[in-house]
Amino acid sequence: MRRKIAAGNWKMNGTGLDLAMLADLCDRHPAPRCDILICPPAPLIHRAAQTVRNNTVAIGAQDCHAEPSGAHTGDVSAAMLADAGASAVILGHSERRQDHGETDASVRAKAQAVIANGLTAIVCVGETLAQRDAGDTLDLITSQLNGSLPDTIAGHSNVIAYEPIWAIGTGRVPAAAQIGEVHAFIRSTLGQRFGPETAAAIRLLYGGSVKAANAAEIFSVPDVDGALVGGASLSVADFSPIVSAL
Ligand code: G3P
Repeated sequence: MRRKIAAGNWKMNGTGLDLAMLADLCDRHPAPRCDILICPPAPLIHRAAQTVRNNTVAIGAQDCHAEPSGAHTGDVSAAMLADAGASAVILGHSERRQDHGETDASVRAKAQAVIANGLTAIVCVGETLAQRDAGDTLDLITSQLNGSLPDTIAGHSNVIAYEPIWAIGTGRVPAAAQIGEVHAFIRSTLGQRFGPETAAAIRLLYGGSVKAANAAEIFSVPDVDGALVGGASLSVADFSPIVSAL
């Protein structure tokens, strides 16, 4: 049985003042039925991990460099994130693929570094609206999975997030059948490459305009093991009902 995940991606939002939200979130969910993960901007990771210490909310990062150290101004390594208190790293988010030219190959190298440091890799895939309209969604997902995932992954500790780009921050959510089609396809593609046991253990998150109002319907879709939430993860009032819906 896969334990579900409610994950929040704060993107480039939040300062130290917003860490009060984390304490509140912990108080509201002392014994959650699912894993709860919040990924704040890098400068907040250490303080966030201190804030939730001994509690039920884990802290993650939004990116890392593939190398362990060196002349990479502005970057942070997976080991540094682990040292700061992160237990997971989002990789290959479409905003990083678009804004920073990240490729499947660079995402794969980062995923290897994350896994080597004992962290959970949350690898993001998803199509543009033009790709969906052209009927290219499943081909695109196939090539992103093939290119972005390392050859060796542990099912229980790694996560794929399906985030259709056209649903991110737009209020447009795919129909349940569309989400279900892609999630089932991802699991079957993982099975062909990694074997049925690993594929059955990997958790698949949906991301893109998840809100309290649509969470229950999305979570009822087979092969959806939780959500990667952007805007609605910034306040307890919005995020807590999503946690409770899992
Ligand atoms: O990583 C989460 C994200 O891209 C979805 O954002 O604001 O549509 O929930 P949002």
